[in-house]
Amino acid sequence: MSVMTQAPLFRGTNLVKEFPSGTGGIFGRSKTFRAVDDVSLEVSRGETLALVGESGSGKSTTARLAARLMDVTSGTVEIDGVDVTKASGKDLRGFRGTVQVIFQDPYSSLNPRHTVERLVTAPLTYQQRKIPGGARAFTRELMERVGLNPNHSERYPAQFSGGQAQRIGIARALAVSPRLVICDEAVSALDVSVQAQVINLLRDLQKDEGFGYLFIAHDLAVVRQIATRMAVMSQGRIVETGPRDSIFEAPQHEYTKTLLEAVPRIDPEWERRRRLAQDLRVATSASTSTGTEKEG
Ligand SMILES: Nc1ncnc2c1ncn2[C@@H]1O[C@H](COP(=O)(O)OP(=O)(O)OP(=O)(O)O)[C@@H](O)[C@H]1O
Ligand SMILES: [Mg+2]
Repeated sequence: MSVMTQAPLFRGTNLVKEFPSGTGGIFGRSKTFRAVDDVSLEVSRGETLALVGESGSGKSTTARLAARLMDVTSGTVEIDGVDVTKASGKDLRGFRGTVQVIFQDPYSSLNPRHTVERLVTAPLTYQQRKIPGGARAFTRELMERVGLNPNHSERYPAQFSGGQAQRIGIARALAVSPRLVICDEAVSALDVSVQAQVINLLRDLQKDEGFGYLFIAHDLAVVRQIATRMAVMSQGRIVETGPRDSIFEAPQHEYTKTLLEAVPRIDPEWERRRRLAQDLRVATSASTSTGTEKEG
């Protein structure tokens, strides 16, 4: 018997997505624009691959291809080594139970006319799966898991704060017990303290469930908190990929360096050293100054 090499949880290979971009003159053929240009990436169980890059670099399009919310122009999407690029019907429903997406704006991704209970159980209804323990008990349990008051299961999204609404989005994603969770700027709209809470929640869930995350964020300070590996995108291509620390500490590609230079530093140790260095510079320049500078 041969030893099987275990396929990664998720694998996208040579993904391409072209969009029409007008025509080339009256007689011209229709032109296309490659939003995603030969992207390959893998996510293993329990790992967080952060996809970073400037606005318009193709991150969300990559996420949509990975989640089969959009068809590829070419390339393949695999889950556990099974090609799901063309999956439809029952197979696609099965795929939707394995891969869930959490978007940036919780309010616009949650139907405002549906209660939490309806929102959270909808993916199971779509999956034509029985709701374990009944809808109410199931919803309450999920709400507790994501830190929401289970007594609020009959409320509507507008009755929650942004951070709470995002937790509803997370609860809904959890409902189908997914294995890959794609977060497309999932914490970007939240203020910093709420952001930290939601990141901790995502981390705890990963520890408990072994989720793989494809985590898209433009904020590298956030990425630093959650990523295990990173892929850097520019103009539809992945220009650099590697473990988080090597990307942050020794970026190879010029584009990555530029991207990192724009990071606001919130690492307390870094901040302490930066202040120290600044104080030293001030002290040095003061001691070498001619005394003609104004004080204060
Ligand atoms: N449905 C679409 N039709 C045509 N062009 C599109 C479509 N979706 C995205 N694009 C284009 O593809 C490119 C990549 O867009 P995408 O949303 O993937 O970028 P992004 O990296 O997620 O950016 P951001 O950080 O701003 O969210 C952009 O130039 C965008 O205008
Ligand atoms: Mg985007």
